[in-house]
Amino acid sequence: METSIRLVLKDAASFLPCGAVEAFKPAVTAARQALEDGTCAGNDFLGWLHLPSSITPAFIDEINATAQTLRENCDAIVVAGIGGSYLGARAVIEALGNTFAWLRQDNGPVILFAGNNIGEDYLAELCDYLSTRRFGIINISKSGTTTETALAFRLLRAQCEAQRGKEEARRVIVAITDAKKGAARVTADKEGYKSFIIPDNVGGRFSVLTPVGLLPIACAGFDIAALVKGAADMEKACGTDVAFEDNIAMQYAAMRNALYQAGKKIEILANYQPKLHSMNEWWKQLYGESEGKDGKGIFPAAVDLTTDLHSMGQWIQAGERTIFETVISVEQPEHHVLFPHDDENLDGLNFLEGKRVDEVNKNAEAGTRLAHIDGGVPNLRIVMPRLDAYHLGQLIYFFEVGCGMSGLLLGVNPFDQPGVEAYKKNMFALLGKPGYEAQSEAIRKRIAE
Ligand code: PA5
Repeated sequence: METSIRLVLKDAASFLPCGAVEAFKPAVTAARQALEDGTCAGNDFLGWLHLPSSITPAFIDEINATAQTLRENCDAIVVAGIGGSYLGARAVIEALGNTFAWLRQDNGPVILFAGNNIGEDYLAELCDYLSTRRFGIINISKSGTTTETALAFRLLRAQCEAQRGKEEARRVIVAITDAKKGAARVTADKEGYKSFIIPDNVGGRFSVLTPVGLLPIACAGFDIAALVKGAADMEKACGTDVAFEDNIAMQYAAMRNALYQAGKKIEILANYQPKLHSMNEWWKQLYGESEGKDGKGIFPAAVDLTTDLHSMGQWIQAGERTIFETVISVEQPEHHVLFPHDDENLDGLNFLEGKRVDEVNKNAEAGTRLAHIDGGVPNLRIVMPRLDAYHLGQLIYFFEVGCGMSGLLLGVNPFDQPGVEAYKKNMFALLGKPGYEAQSEAIRKRIAE
């Protein structure tokens, strides 16, 4: 039997009045049921809820076959996408890969990310790097009109065609987009690119278990069937028929809201494995875009520890007491390294000689947890038995369903992101996009002031 991730709440509960978390039981149970029944706000975006259990082996095979074609024909694969259209893939690829060779798994292609910024130097340096390589592109955009991604795709497609010829380029460009609309769909159909559909009812930040995440992860050489199996098992473990006392996603949603109501406005996701850095980024988007609206929402922050104990550690230990911490704790590392002996022992660390580095890390983690608790920071712990595809699948689904319930408890629609449009409107007005002329002058004046 597979092991499961666990949630430890006691060091957060101790900061709250007795029964404060349990008081959320009726509301969180109702929230879980509303997701199930499709009666909640944003109910046209619930396609992620039973996505893991609906993925068939034939679909996994199709993704793997496309990944294989790309792997065989490319030295580099550029994943063009932003927000939900790239963070999940990056999180899993980095978590599973060798830290220093994650860009090149099993002698497979280098996986690179573009279309997630408008940095001219970034694009120039990427194009320069690709100029001597056989590269392919996975163009991911649900809307098909996102500026950052469209810009990167224009540049990369032209370069790919110039380097490989139009015919060969067609074989190594894949589109993941809407079934019918948007520029990415029109181009894919016109050019005959292999394409996958992002279901209408799955929003970007909930899309990592669609081809949006699965294809890049498969291209990196990782086991997407195990990832999906982990998510499907967590789907069962967090179902409506699993009561609050055993349902870790309900407990997480309830605890977050109990802490928020007690004035803890910032959640810091912490890891003790640098490989989880991009998982932090994916989680920040998931919770930030889902909950930060209507003047409400826990601010999702993140740190990599012990690295950031030497930067943010001071603030966490002794800054304003409006924070709580959720630590992802990985039980078993994949490697075995011992603390070395040094004849001179100038650093005084020979007392650690022969201990596993992970033992030192685990003690740093335990010591930090106690220090933070003593400093007034409620602490939640998500224990992952291993950092493998199966448990990452569990973690992803746990966070997704926990997010849906948490947002509903907060009283917002967790599945929209109207605030994201504000910067786009100003940017388009400033850049003179047709249709934005009316706002253009007023915005220019304000910028000039
Ligand atoms: O979660 C979301 O919906 C967003 O972060 C989107 O994923 C992001 O804006 C990219 O959009 P698109 O896939 O349409 O290019």
